Amino acid sequence: MKYLSIWVVLVLSVLAACSSPRNSVGLLVYREDDLFMRSLVNDIQKESDGQFSLDTRFSLNSQVIQNEQIENLIREETQVLIINPVDRLGAYAVVKRLKMENIPVIFFNREPLRSDMELWDQVWYVGAKAEQSGRMQAELAMELFGSDPDSLNEFDRNDDGRIQTVILKGEQGHQDAEIRTAMVQTAFQEAGYSIDVIAVETANWNRNEAYETMEEILDRGVNPPELVLSNNDAMALGAISIMRQRGLFSDTNGNGKMERTDEEWIPVLGIDGVPESVEQIEAGYLYGTVHNDYSTMAKAIAALAESILEGRVDDDFPYEIIDGKYIWVDYKTFTLD
Ligand code: BGC
Repeated sequence: MKYLSIWVVLVLSVLAACSSPRNSVGLLVYREDDLFMRSLVNDIQKESDGQFSLDTRFSLNSQVIQNEQIENLIREETQVLIINPVDRLGAYAVVKRLKMENIPVIFFNREPLRSDMELWDQVWYVGAKAEQSGRMQAELAMELFGSDPDSLNEFDRNDDGRIQTVILKGEQGHQDAEIRTAMVQTAFQEAGYSIDVIAVETANWNRNEAYETMEEILDRGVNPPELVLSNNDAMALGAISIMRQRGLFSDTNGNGKMERTDEEWIPVLGIDGVPESVEQIEAGYLYGTVHNDYSTMAKAIAALAESILEGRVDDDFPYEIIDGKYIWVDYKTFTLD
């Protein structure tokens, strides 16, 4: 009899474990072929290893598909969702739905509206302040031009006291694209620099699109820009590829690197600091970038998911949580110097 009841208890607990998976977290990402998201997702996967079981799904850049994936994860009794929304305005419906099911959610990288964040107390956001990246990018460029707005150095190639600039913008409506584009210009103006923005074009964070966009800009027949400011590294790399093909970077001694003092090149600045761009900085093609600190973001996201699973996001939580909802990760400048 005693053995029979031990068996019954064992069987029941195995059944319970099967029907409601323990520590199951879903990670939804707007698309798979985004250079920055690749680094961030890799790090989230590494951080979750051994802590909780993580089910990663990519949403093919479609909010409809992402909503279906959310429904599937609800059905599979996922306990916490980590979501990089396709459409950040879609967060309203997502929060309402997850509140009904009592599934806490951590948004990241694409920031929902404040009013949507406030629909429920089990909603968090992990990200970075886009203003900071725009300002840091402008600071890197100002240093390159000699740090004196009234006397630009040799990088003002036509010596007109102004910087002819191309801006490559990320995805329309994404907070990082809108704010970085505006803030980088504001920072120059505030510091007294005159910049002529010869083009601001959207290339959706994408390397190939930026290649084509830059090609069109060069084809307009204007003089090559004195500066290219890109909202992210992937687009910066696309712009560099076409400019290299057009001979605007010339590795005259053929050593595979740009010697900036005596070879022809155009300063291009990105944002993100992904490994691919660090390589290009080392080779002298990308002038610099602003590090969008994905390793720290991944650590904060994983730690938060774990604390939610344990049912305690309290004062001991290792990252500062603003207004009970926001974890902000600082950007850092990155150049070879
Ligand atoms: C990054 C971009 C990335 C985008 C995706 C931005 O914060 O800087 O590289 O494509 O997020 O949402």
